Amino acid sequence: MSDEAARSQDSETVAAVVVAAGKGLRVGGDLPKQYRRVGGRAVLTRTLAALAQSPRIARIQPVIAPDAQDFYRECLADLEPAHRAKLAEPVPGGATRQQSVAAGLEGLARDGSPDLVLVHDAARPFVDDALIARAVAAGSRHGAAVPGIAVSDTIKLVEELAPGIGRVHETPARENLRAVQTPQSFRFGLLLDAHRRAVAEGRDGFTDDGALAEWAGQPVVVFEGDARNRKITQAADLIEADRAFSGRAFSD
Ligand code: CTP
Ligand code: MG
Repeated sequence: MSDEAARSQDSETVAAVVVAAGKGLRVGGDLPKQYRRVGGRAVLTRTLAALAQSPRIARIQPVIAPDAQDFYRECLADLEPAHRAKLAEPVPGGATRQQSVAAGLEGLARDGSPDLVLVHDAARPFVDDALIARAVAAGSRHGAAVPGIAVSDTIKLVEELAPGIGRVHETPARENLRAVQTPQSFRFGLLLDAHRRAVAEGRDGFTDDGALAEWAGQPVVVFEGDARNRKITQAADLIEADRAFSGRAFSD
């Protein structure tokens, strides 16, 4: 990157929306996965700390379920004061991830609107500084950018015939496929407009913001993700994350 490009990137304000309003049905259990402990700290605490420690991120907008205030306060108590200081008051999420992201963006809009926003899943506590740096650089340069990793399995496009059985329609060339993660990175105004348009047109259920930006007609780029940045989705992922974090220093 040229010095000039690096300077303009540094002068941009960057905020993050952390969506933590899901129910974690696939993991199961009484407590939603983002409030379960891995290596002694809640998943959400780890995710917030990982983002807050980045000098690039000035502000973080958490989005939580309206009935999860107490769990959220417990997470806050476990954060360093310098990290806590970057957190906006949490806003209530919606019934779908898309609605939760929209609530977070509206919260940031009331809070002064950053230049760039990273949208990140609370369920991805392994995000690190190198990935955040790539997200900021790609979003700043391209306007809409999502992290992706090459897939090692062959992927089929199928139509479900019955539970567990699908008819194969197509086998896309594997070298053109990427499994997409978060943090996804956007010009703030671009993503806010796309979300507002989706609300106005009654479109819901986009599972990531990259797809929503595509729908809104924005070109989206994929940058290099990180295979370690897994999303805790199933019970086994929680066990594995617990093992991974238990092997690290407490302050990680
Ligand atoms: N999420 C959210 N609001 C929703 C649904 C999801 O904020 N209405 C968040 C989750 O908390 C999670 C991220 O979006 O951090 C990714 O979603 P997913 O992994 O599907 O989490 P859940 O929806 O909680 O899990 P499940 O689908 O198994 O119920
Ligand atoms: Mg879900």
